Amino acid sequence: MATKIEMFTGKGGVGKTTMSVAGALYHSRFGRTLLISTDPSGSLSEIFSRPLDQRVTEVDENLEVVELTRRLVLDLWRKKFADEIYTVLSSFLPVGREIIDYIEGAPGIDEEFMLDYLLTAARSGRYETIVWDTAPTVTTLNLLFVQRLFYSHLTQAQKVYIKVKNVFSRVDPLALINQWLELTAAIIELLKTDTRSWVVANPERLPVEQALDIAASLADFGIGINGFILNKLLPGEVCAGSSFWEEKYSRQQDWRECLRQRAAYPVREIPDLAGELSTPESLATVTSLLYQSE
Ligand SMILES: Nc1ncnc2c1ncn2[C@@H]1O[C@H](COP(=O)(O)OP(=O)(O)OP(=O)(O)O)[C@@H](O)[C@H]1O
Ligand SMILES: [Mg+2]
Repeated sequence: MATKIEMFTGKGGVGKTTMSVAGALYHSRFGRTLLISTDPSGSLSEIFSRPLDQRVTEVDENLEVVELTRRLVLDLWRKKFADEIYTVLSSFLPVGREIIDYIEGAPGIDEEFMLDYLLTAARSGRYETIVWDTAPTVTTLNLLFVQRLFYSHLTQAQKVYIKVKNVFSRVDPLALINQWLELTAAIIELLKTDTRSWVVANPERLPVEQALDIAASLADFGIGINGFILNKLLPGEVCAGSSFWEEKYSRQQDWRECLRQRAAYPVREIPDLAGELSTPESLATVTSLLYQSE
């Protein structure tokens, strides 16, 4: 059975990490689950009270967690691809190994490799579900577009290489270019067939507008959408009697209505909770609210 990927995306600070942990706790009841975070702020280490940015760590019987920091991703990238890239480039150009440092600094390399990491984890056959807590909006969408761009670049590289093949006498990098092309195609396939996304928003203008934009981009890319999570809704009964809270409540209701009308997917609602949501135990409340209808 293919590993399912459930991704959480949305504007900064709307509750992606909170919902991802809640999601991971839910899925780990049914099978081995990996929670991957590409959020640079490192909230998972705090929630699970241990460093999670070096390697995959088992935090519960059926739950493993890793925080993919840029540094960790680049180190893994070097181990996996640096030799291959050097082989290909040095067959075209008079370059030394320092070219790897240069490429490492290129925009999109860490994002590209994060997806490779996701693919490797999905193909390991170890997990029933991978929950992916993405970095705030822009980076996530970049990541998807970088992937598509990379694919078209590689296709070009392959065509060019076939044309000028006879000029090179040393190694034959075509096989490697083809391998990368296959890898990239497999990642796109993984995103299109096995991935479902949740777009998280708060009942305010910018988070709602961004959520609608993100959903449109995901749909355009071909990624399945479970729905929106409208998080941190003020409970009406506690707002009654105070003009400040009544006004805030009423503004939230306007944005709630706006999302409901414009959303082409289901909207799940999570109230603004009074307690601190910084431990797996406290997040169990969110799990039951989020998955109560499943
Ligand atoms: N329903 C809720 N009720 C109360 N507090 C919440 C709720 N959802 C999230 N929070 C709190 O809001 C803060 C931001 O949530 P979280 O870190 O999950 O957002 P994020 O989208 O992952 O942020 P970032 O974009 O920085 O990664 C956290 O302190 C979290 O505990
Ligand atoms: Mg986060």
